[in-house]
Amino acid sequence: MEIRKIGVIGAGQMGAGIAQVAAQAGYTVVLRDLEQAFLERGLSSIKRSIGKLLEKGKLDQQAHDAALARITTTTHLSDLNDCDLVIEAIVEHEPTKLELFRELDALLQPAAILASNTSSIPITRLASATRRPERFIGMHFMNPVPLMELVEVIRGHLTDEATTQAVLEVARRMGKTPVEVNDYPGFVSNRILLPMLNEAIQCVMEGVATPEAIDQVMKLGMNHPMGPLTLADFIGLDTCLSIMEVLHRGLGDDKYRPSPLLRKMVQAGLLGRKSGRGFYRYD
Ligand code: CAA
Ligand code: NAD
Repeated sequence: MEIRKIGVIGAGQMGAGIAQVAAQAGYTVVLRDLEQAFLERGLSSIKRSIGKLLEKGKLDQQAHDAALARITTTTHLSDLNDCDLVIEAIVEHEPTKLELFRELDALLQPAAILASNTSSIPITRLASATRRPERFIGMHFMNPVPLMELVEVIRGHLTDEATTQAVLEVARRMGKTPVEVNDYPGFVSNRILLPMLNEAIQCVMEGVATPEAIDQVMKLGMNHPMGPLTLADFIGLDTCLSIMEVLHRGLGDDKYRPSPLLRKMVQAGLLGRKSGRGFYRYD
């Protein structure tokens, strides 16, 4: 199964990064979002990121220009109809993703593969919205996509071997190291990471320490590259809350209960870096 053309849906922080690494790997890329302004924001973040890689000599001018030339953008889903692989990276909201996958399933060639970059929603459930559950898979990139080596590859209950192998090959060609896991809430990455971030938020709520102090403890004491509150702001507090809700619903245990402070901050529109304010300010 040869993949040449990749559709990426959602030009937010993850979709833009995925489009960039796909184009750098030589794939033809169509990037889709709902509005032209969102596509422009995504493209400018791609240009900034790939510009940094050029500055640092991680790719040359020709590779830089060729990668940018491989990316086209659209607001029309129908422009993705001849893609061999479509990677979805829209908001972490199950009904919105289900609706999109129903539409995509009707639009794409029967052999095309559908992948979701969801942080936590069960791949098997997303696949059930389509008539191609065997060609449906989780392709979970890490943020920031151009720098992080891991792609967590999640097999849904019915995902077939050919699809898994094709997607592992795509991830490797993007310069990533894919790791296969099975479909349980939060997979491996977020089942382990998010309860830690949630606990750090709970520490803020209980007044255990300031956000700065909590981040310093984890950076200097555990050698984490970012403190947990900086990382939560970076991921997006709305996305963190959605993931905690999936963990809590799916695994039941009280240890996965989203911190009330996390919920309150999302209600207040404090979503972290993307909204300009979370535990820190970004203006
Ligand atoms: N593209 C290209 N270059 C980038 C970049 C991007 N998107 N983002 C940062 N850089 C560059 C910076 O400009 C900087 O360049 P200079 O050295 O020239 O200044 C360089 O990379 C290093 O960045 P920083 O000095 O700002 O910071 P750093 O050394 O801490 O590295 C980092 C940045 C790699 C992001 C590091 O902080 C890190 O690993 N953080 C943790 C990230 C993480 O945990 N990600 C997973 C999140 S969870 C997830 O993704 C799953 C989910 O479902 C929620
Ligand atoms: P984001 O809010 O930065 O971007 C989401 C984008 O999707 C927005 O541009 C929005 O306009 C667009 N969108 C929404 N509905 C759409 C639709 N129907 N069609 C096309 N575009 C649509 O979010 P993000 O942080 O990039 O996260 C995207 C996905 O990746 C989520 O499922 C999230 O859980 C997952 N993820 C996020 C991270 C992270 O650290 N933020 C890491 C790994 C995976």
